[in-house]
Amino acid sequence: MAGRLDVVIFGASGYTGKYAIISSINLLKGFKWAVAGRNKEKLQATLKEVEAKTNQDLSKIPIIIADVNDEKSLKEMTVQAKVVVNCCGPYRFFGEQVVKACVETSTSHVDVSGEPQYMETMQLKYNDAAREKGIYIVSACGFDSIPADMGIVYLQDKFKGTLNSVETFITWGYTDGYKPSGASIHYGTYESAVYGFAHANELGGIRRQLFKEKLPRFKPTLKSRGFAHKQPIIGNKWCIPFMGSDRSVVSRSQRYFFEEEKNRPVQMHAYISFGSFFALSTTLLLGFVFGVLARSEFGRKLLLNYPKIFTFGAVSHEGPSEEKNENSILTMYFLGLGWKEKLSESTDQFDIPMNKKITTKVTIKNPGYGATCDALVLCARNILKERNNMPQNGGVYAPAAAFRHTSLLKDLQNNGYAFEVIKTEERK
Ligand SMILES: NC(=O)c1ccc[n+]([C@@H]2O[C@H](COP(=O)([O-])OP(=O)(O)OC[C@H]3O[C@@H](n4cnc5c(N)ncnc54)[C@H](OP(=O)(O)O)[C@@H]3O)[C@@H](O)[C@H]2O)c1
Repeated sequence: MAGRLDVVIFGASGYTGKYAIISSINLLKGFKWAVAGRNKEKLQATLKEVEAKTNQDLSKIPIIIADVNDEKSLKEMTVQAKVVVNCCGPYRFFGEQVVKACVETSTSHVDVSGEPQYMETMQLKYNDAAREKGIYIVSACGFDSIPADMGIVYLQDKFKGTLNSVETFITWGYTDGYKPSGASIHYGTYESAVYGFAHANELGGIRRQLFKEKLPRFKPTLKSRGFAHKQPIIGNKWCIPFMGSDRSVVSRSQRYFFEEEKNRPVQMHAYISFGSFFALSTTLLLGFVFGVLARSEFGRKLLLNYPKIFTFGAVSHEGPSEEKNENSILTMYFLGLGWKEKLSESTDQFDIPMNKKITTKVTIKNPGYGATCDALVLCARNILKERNNMPQNGGVYAPAAAFRHTSLLKDLQNNGYAFEVIKTEERK
């Protein structure tokens, strides 16, 4: 490893890649890092743009050329790094080639995938090889699914007794007085979502191979709240199940804690809220059209060629304006239920009624790109600085499994992730 760069940001010319450069300027002081991608001019232009925005001299940042479709170039890139920060998606198409090159050159890898099929496939195919090499492959290090995965770890730490279940509720808003306009999501994320929907039915098969043994049934079972419900802890806003990767990622971390650390795994359901019944109905209608179209090739073409039409302008090739990103606020609420007593950790059946409830939240500004890339770069930094506090061998992990015992939670708190306990209730 001696002589390698600490970090190489791959896909640095993309919308997310630009934010990863900005995060690296702040969070990788004292580390050696470079940018990489397939197009030198675009990479140079991105560095110039970030220079102008941040007033930093980036002229000494090395540029490495590598193309996903050229295996040799990928390995020539990954062998130069201790950790690759991969911003090149959709990961369904571009991710595995980079992970494979990393495994072959003994390089750790972090990314901001929100694609469960890709993440679980990487664990299935590369976990053993990554362990042999002693490297870490960690996906979902951004908005998907750091707030949920690390937020549950935060709640677990605060709970003290025995935590049975957590429900998460996402709310999305803007700073007071800001009038949002224009797109909210860059095309790259939308494209990943279109293909994620198209291939959603592959997940069951991958999961059955990945987790051959089912977890014991922990009771009481956390039931889903159904298709739509009003949630009192967020002012009776309408909520529906959240289709993102949070549940998949949290389940992988909690399974790890159960299997490797003998901790009772937390059951989890994720929900997303809407400001009004009208907003909920519109989203459901769009979601239905999206779901139907994403399943056929013709439908996918329509979705991908006319993103603005199918999202009422929420998605664009230019992405959200910086002003809109800076004024966006995500708050994720967590409702944890369990027992105030420390019951035997790995016992799966508890007959006594639950007597403790904790509500926590995490609030994040610029969650989609700024805070996402801060978390991504902090994950890379933790691999560089704190491997002694990570799972002993390398492997393919969800973020909380990889970083629970490192300073990641504190690092996030120091960089804009405001975790807090709202209310603790106990009964006799
Ligand atoms: N879950 C989260 O929290 C979260 C948040 C933000 C983004 N994301 C994910 O991040 C990914 C990127 O999104 P984005 O909006 O930044 O997309 P983007 O702007 O299109 O960026 C894609 C990057 O990949 C590069 N690339 C494409 N094909 C390549 C190839 N063959 N070889 C080398 N590089 C190649 C592009 O290079 P060129 O510039 O040369 O085209 C560009 O740098 C998506 O999967 C998105 O879902 C996730």
